[in-house]
Amino acid sequence: MIYGERVRLRAIERDDIPRFLRWFNDPEIRRHLTMFRPLSRAEEERWVESLLSRRDDMVLAIEVKEGDGWVHIGNVGLHRIDWKNRAATLGIVIGEKSYWGQGYGAEAVRTMLRYAFLELGLNRVELEVFSFNLRALRCYEKAGFKREGVRRQALFRDGKFHDVILMGILRSEFSPNPAPGLPWPKGRDESEP
Ligand SMILES: CC(C)(COP(=O)(O)OP(=O)(O)OC[C@H]1O[C@@H](n2cnc3c(N)ncnc32)[C@H](O)[C@@H]1OP(=O)(O)O)[C@@H](O)C(=O)NCCC(=O)NCCS
Repeated sequence: MIYGERVRLRAIERDDIPRFLRWFNDPEIRRHLTMFRPLSRAEEERWVESLLSRRDDMVLAIEVKEGDGWVHIGNVGLHRIDWKNRAATLGIVIGEKSYWGQGYGAEAVRTMLRYAFLELGLNRVELEVFSFNLRALRCYEKAGFKREGVRRQALFRDGKFHDVILMGILRSEFSPNPAPGLPWPKGRDESEP
């Protein structure tokens, strides 16, 4: 378990599959993701099984505290982990849409970055985001990502071409101090890098 202030990241379980089917077949969510055809239970089961054996791909469930329990609201992952160049690609989805816009995305990204830089020893984390996904762009900027470039008209969606924005963050740019309003886990020693 990896703890943030309001979120915790845990391993994906087979019991999560029904939620994934609901999230990844929701057009409002899919619009922002690379996948473009309806997802079947069999595909989702294969994907979850493949996670168990992969060393270059780590997807974790994002949970938030609700009353006495924890609610699974989305997933965050480090993909294509390149151990030689110490780099990876980040992906996130908050599938429970009622949780959007409350800072959980940025906190989950920062919690994953902290793990990537301070535990896995990575030096660079990058991602791609569609130009119309203003919520995600803002979320990543809050978490410390910088815009690095544009893949012009790289996406065809809703009958039009769209730019795809490349973003990245380096270990040296990752601040151990949170952005205002974005707390760190309790009990953390702030003198540590
Ligand atoms: C993208 C996503 C992970 C962000 O998570 P989140 O919890 O909603 O994000 P946060 O609340 O941390 O940050 C969102 C920010 O965008 C802002 N925002 C929301 N809609 C916006 C818009 N139309 N224009 C500009 N900013 C917007 C919010 O106000 C917030 O900024 P603030 O904290 O300064 O007010 C989540 O919305 C999601 O999963 N979306 C669907 C899948 C997706 O897009 N995944 C990413 C693919 S690259």
